[in-house]
Amino acid sequence: MIASSMRPSKAASAPARTKKRADEFLMAELVITIDGPAASGKSTMARLLAERLGATFLDTGAMYRAVTLAAVRDHVELRDEEQLARVVERHRFDFEAARGKMLVRIDGEDVTEAIRDNELTAQVRYIASAGRVRARLVEMQRAFARKHRQVVTEGRDQGTVVFPDATIKFFLTAGAAERARRRKEELDAKGLPADLEQIREAIEARDRSDENRAVGPLKAAPDAIRVDTTGLSIEEAAERFYHHVEERCPRNR
Ligand code: CDP
Repeated sequence: MIASSMRPSKAASAPARTKKRADEFLMAELVITIDGPAASGKSTMARLLAERLGATFLDTGAMYRAVTLAAVRDHVELRDEEQLARVVERHRFDFEAARGKMLVRIDGEDVTEAIRDNELTAQVRYIASAGRVRARLVEMQRAFARKHRQVVTEGRDQGTVVFPDATIKFFLTAGAAERARRRKEELDAKGLPADLEQIREAIEARDRSDENRAVGPLKAAPDAIRVDTTGLSIEEAAERFYHHVEERCPRNR
């Protein structure tokens, strides 16, 4: 099943336009947003929560990563927003909700693992700062939520820009040293040895760029529940999340 496609639609016929308008009024039933800096535990929490609630997990970082990979492969100038917008139109991007993860394809090729590359990660900031690309991805994220009805979505701007009326919003934090240690563990587990200090520097550079860009910056929504996961095990952090969800969403009791 294809969850979303970023290829622009051909000029819509009148009935198609009517249908699109009707779809736009369809609301998702449950949207839980989890925003926070790199390696703060967003993906793990979003996955566990989605599984527990029978909702669909949406990894919006994977979308920014996929556009970055396509742009790098096309050798476009990453600072040129016009060219980046064309990359989005030129390729077909599919994001498919699979059990516990999101499969990502570019023109039919599975790039779910390729988009995690360290060098690529450092280049995502150009795509994340391009307003026109962001606007297109925001549209797709909302369409994904309408289609799947119940979603747990994670990123940087989910509670602030994409889903300001979300059912529950979380903002996750953790100290930079701990986040670097977690990311190293992930890389070690994949057999990719990496230097802890370099990982920490890369994470801090990404935090600065995410916090300071003009569009969709990393920021806690005023009504977000803040959870600091420093020193918490995955189970402990998950319990805090469940506790808040049960408190705010009686129907999940
Ligand atoms: O997993 P990690 O936190 O390292 O990264 P990610 O969530 O996959 O996001 C990669 C990058 O995409 C981030 O550093 C942001 O620059 C960008 N991003 C964004 O701008 N907006 C989002 N909603 C999600 C990610």
